[in-house]
Amino acid sequence: MPSLPFQREPGKTGLQAGRIEPRMAKFYWQKRWRLLALIIALLGFGGWKLSGLFSNVGYSPSQPIPFSHRLHAGINHIPCMYCHAGVERGKVAPVPALNVCMGCHSVVDANRPLIQKIATAYNQRKPFHWVRIYALPRFVKFNHQPHISAGIACQTCHGPVQTMRQVAQYKEFWMGECLDCHRAHNYLPAPRDYAHRDLYYVHGRMTNAPVDCNTCHN
Ligand code: HEC
Ligand code: HEC
Ligand code: HEC
Ligand code: HEC
Ligand code: HEC
Repeated sequence: MPSLPFQREPGKTGLQAGRIEPRMAKFYWQKRWRLLALIIALLGFGGWKLSGLFSNVGYSPSQPIPFSHRLHAGINHIPCMYCHAGVERGKVAPVPALNVCMGCHSVVDANRPLIQKIATAYNQRKPFHWVRIYALPRFVKFNHQPHISAGIACQTCHGPVQTMRQVAQYKEFWMGECLDCHRAHNYLPAPRDYAHRDLYYVHGRMTNAPVDCNTCHN
């Protein structure tokens, strides 16, 4: 009759006797601890990722000069495109050069220390190195132009910039973030019946936000 694994047979010791040796028991115990530690680490890591601590949302570096969007775009109602001119035509939204600032500040607050700092930088042709906030990975193609001409507000993607004393990243553009909106604005063949046709038009024209890979990747 075959012996049960944990039954001690007379005259035999250790594994031979079907008993786990203390040395082995210690080994298994350690292994289990390591496994447990690994599981805890993985759960922690996953939770951390999900909690958004790894994302750049909220990223708000201080700039060479404390430039306030709240003061300019908010309180003084300067339109976004007055400074970020060309965004409706081009790929990038240019950050204004110092001559744009001086257009106002050669007069406005000209004697304030901060403004004098701007004037000096301008006169010495030493532009500020503004710290970049939004940046997609290199392998993604993004273009502002089709978005602006489709009538999407800057705030949809950048948040309420006009309330920010210092720009903070509002969204992280994971692929899903782009795709969700593209699916919603995707072209559908217009239905024959005219009564429902205008559902397919946004701001007076049909949008076609493609979702195929080469729209955003080469
Ligand atoms: C008076 C000029 C001016 C106006 C008006 C203005 N901006 Fe800016 N904007 C700047 C300057 C200068 C920077 C670079 C410094 C900084 O990040 O604060 C900037 C930076 C930004 C950035 C961060 C770019 C990056 O990734 O580094 C965003 C987004 C932005 N502006 C959006 C807007 C929006 C939206 C509006 C309108 C609600 C607006 N801006 C109005 C001058 C302006
Ligand atoms: C559909 C979403 C979307 C809209 C709408 C949008 N932006 Fe952007 N913006 C982005 C993304 C994404 C980036 C990062 C682009 C990159 O890294 O190539 C960006 C970057 C920027 C930058 C940094 C410079 C650059 O172009 O890379 C500025 C400044 C900016 N946006 C301002 C604006 C302003 C002003 C408006 C409105 C006129 C606007 N954006 C509308 C998504 C958007
Ligand atoms: C269209 C006009 C206009 C433009 C362009 C403009 N500003 Fe201003 N700026 C203002 C006004 C208005 C104020 C608020 C004045 C006040 O309340 O005393 C102001 C205030 C400021 C202040 C605060 C000054 C202080 O000491 O309190 C700074 C700093 C500043 N601007 C920087 C900039 C920079 C940098 C640029 C270019 C990127 C710029 N401004 C472009 C109109 C402008
Ligand atoms: C809030 C909605 C929205 C978001 C978010 C958005 N898009 Fe778009 N996108 C559109 C719409 C609408 C169009 C189409 C406009 C038209 O019909 O010309 C478009 C067009 C484009 C085009 C031009 C396509 C072509 O060939 O005509 C590119 C490229 C693009 N988006 C890339 C991106 C990327 C990359 C992101 C994420 C960083 C993004 N978009 C986020 C709405 C959005
Ligand atoms: C509307 C724009 C858009 C379209 C369409 C799109 N992508 Fe992306 N994709 C992005 C953006 C933005 C990122 C960068 C996300 C990030 O920062 O990690 C990305 C990242 C990726 C990555 C890197 C891994 C990751 O998730 O970060 C892969 C792989 C990828 N895309 C494959 C595809 C494939 C395959 C398709 C077609 C089915 C596709 N993409 C269509 C915008 C797009």
